[in-house]
Amino acid sequence: MNRPKYVRICEMGPRDGLQNERVLVSADDKVRYVDLLSETGLSYVEATSFVSPKAIPLLADAAEVFARIRKRPGVRYPVLVPNAKGLERARAAGADAIAVFTAASEAFSKRNINMTIDDSIETFRGVVSEAKAGGMWVRGYVSTAFGSPFGDVVTPRAVVAVAKRLVDIGCDEISIGDTIGVGVPSQVDEMVPMLAKVVGLERLALHFHDTRGTALANIYAALQHGVFIFDSSAGGLGGCPYAPGATGNVGTEDVLYMLHGMAIETGVDLVKVRAASRFIAGVLDHELTSKAFQALEKAVAP
Ligand code: HMG
Ligand code: MG
Repeated sequence: MNRPKYVRICEMGPRDGLQNERVLVSADDKVRYVDLLSETGLSYVEATSFVSPKAIPLLADAAEVFARIRKRPGVRYPVLVPNAKGLERARAAGADAIAVFTAASEAFSKRNINMTIDDSIETFRGVVSEAKAGGMWVRGYVSTAFGSPFGDVVTPRAVVAVAKRLVDIGCDEISIGDTIGVGVPSQVDEMVPMLAKVVGLERLALHFHDTRGTALANIYAALQHGVFIFDSSAGGLGGCPYAPGATGNVGTEDVLYMLHGMAIETGVDLVKVRAASRFIAGVLDHELTSKAFQALEKAVAP
């Protein structure tokens, strides 16, 4: 068995989470949420998004939020960037890590970023080379890798091909996204060995939304193949407004509970993540979906 002893958790709450809420969270509360997450032992906190404020109004205050968060040494704070304008704004705000994002589904790419997959790769070729020349670290996302919300068929070969193109233009890490939470472990079994060959396990991350309750099963399957980088969101926040039906990322608490129970280290303190989740739950208009968070909140012990 190839199962890793250590897993790196990439926290998505402030970006994937807060991009998809009904209530507008204030910049003060966003900063506090990121700062609480920075205290948990996480080494990756995706902080915000420099996309068009028309596309994602909830994160229009990205520059202010990014400037004000406390950057803890040893923690990476990537920001989402869709084009040259996003890179310019990210750089002006002082970001040293970005994430570009395309998809395996043409229909989703068009709706999410108004570009074909080919166009997005051409756009990101310029963005990534400029970012790298400026010393930035770059992640690349392949969304809708396990299924499209628009009915078009996504094959593992198409996913691997897009991932390879992101590697070829210089991305340091590739995150493969189940944007609408439709994936099952047999898909992981099929796709991960193909991705491992092209991307390499050392820079392969998996990003599961938990819409149908299969995220932890998928993570468990991926662990058997040696994957050791997973995206998750404190409390289970998340979703993409351009992916109908998408709900939250797998909860960071759920992933930590499972991994720690399996004696896999993460360096992340579950109790402190719960504190960040409690804080953000206090400003949102709904309960958090993470099962481990809910169980901890109901437990007799504090
Ligand atoms: P467009 O309308 O084709 O772009 O949108 P445009 O270049 O024609 O610009 C339109 C307007 O936006 C212009 O302003 C631009 O200046 C402005 P106007 O002249 O009309 O006043 N603009 C910007 N402003 C600020 N920052 C920018 C920027 N770019 C343009 N960076 C575009 C194309 C890509 C910009 C738009 O579609 C967009 O921003 N999309 C982002 C959608 C998004 O953020 N989706 C959620 C993130 S993806 C996700 O959640 C999936 C993931 O989690 C993985 C997974 O789950 O699988 C990553
Ligand atoms: Mg996502």
